[in-house]
Formats: sequence, C-alpha cells, structure tokens
Amino acid sequence: MIAIYPGSFDPITNGHYDIIERSCKIFDKVIVGVAYNSEKSGLFTPQERVEIIKEVFKGNDKIEVDRFNGLLVNYVKERNIKVIIRGLRAVSDFEYEFQMALMNKKLWGDVETVFMMSSENYMYVSSRIVKEIFSLGGCIKDLVPEIVRVHLERKLREIKNKQEGRL
Ligand code: PNS
Repeated sequence: MIAIYPGSFDPITNGHYDIIERSCKIFDKVIVGVAYNSEKSGLFTPQERVEIIKEVFKGNDKIEVDRFNGLLVNYVKERNIKVIIRGLRAVSDFEYEFQMALMNKKLWGDVETVFMMSSENYMYVSSRIVKEIFSLGGCIKDLVPEIVRVHLERKLREIKNKQEGRL
C-alpha cells in the first residue's frame, strides 16, 4: 500500500526522518510530499526541499520525493493514495491535526489519516525551532541530518552575502 507523508519540510528534521523510516516498515511505498504555496515563501525553495530530502534518503527505493501544489486530497486522488501519514508530537498538535484529518476525509472519503507518535527524542523538534537555533549560532547536531546542516549553512551564507551586497 502507498502512503503519503505530506508537509512543508523547510527543512526536513530528524523528527520527520524518524516518522518516514518507521512508515517504511509499514507501507510498501512512502511518498514524501512537499507542499508548496506560491504565497507562502520559506527559507528553502520547494525544489531545494525536494532535493535535500532526496539526498537524505538516497538509496532507499521505498521512498519517493515529490512536491504538490494546492489541495493535498487532489494529489492523493491523482496518485490513488489511500493513506496520509502525520506525526504527533504533543497534545498541542492534536487540535490542528484532528481538524485537518476530518477535513481531508470530508473532501475525499477514500483516504485515511494515520497518526504516528513522535519518538521521545524528537518531541520538541520542529523546522521552525531548528532554523531559529541555527541562525542564532546554536548547535543543531542531533536535530537534523548532517546534509541539512550543510544546506542550512550554505543558505544562511547566501542570505548574508546578499544583505552585505545591498549595503
Ligand atoms: O509541515 P506542515 O506545515 O505541518 O504541513 C501541513 C500540510 C502541508 C500537510 C498542510 O498544510 C496541507 O495539507 N497543505 C496542502 C493544502 C491543503 O490541502 N489544505 C487543506 C488541508 S485540510
């Protein structure tokens, strides 16, 4: 059975990595779906996020990385996907996730959302907090795959060079 693990992945963290690895033990194929929205810009472009995730999972043929625009259920319908995977870290995630799962079900009754509890080590990890820590010089060694740290370094350097060029 094919499942999709959708998200913003700006960038992928060890929390995401853990959910993807565990999902691969349950499903035949896991599509990591990078959602992009032309109005919402992130640190990495959607294409960069896709490339980074591909690098992280290089050699794992159970994983496909793709991006989608617009409604998740439209992509799900198009690819005949039956399961949406979402990770749950804390009670605070629940309300939003519950609303999304119910709304996706209302929009497309043929899909089920399966929730996976985050591993204890990653309960507190999020892309937003990783970016904040890194930009302020903190250590993110255990929070993201090494490849992501390298890309974060490159991205922040690019931003800094651009800012200095403007001064
Ligand atoms: O990483 P995130 O930000 O928690 O992921 C949220 C995401 C991308 C899964 C969600 O915002 C989404 O599905 N976006 C696509 C647009 C859509 O279908 N919106 C209606 C959801 S009920």
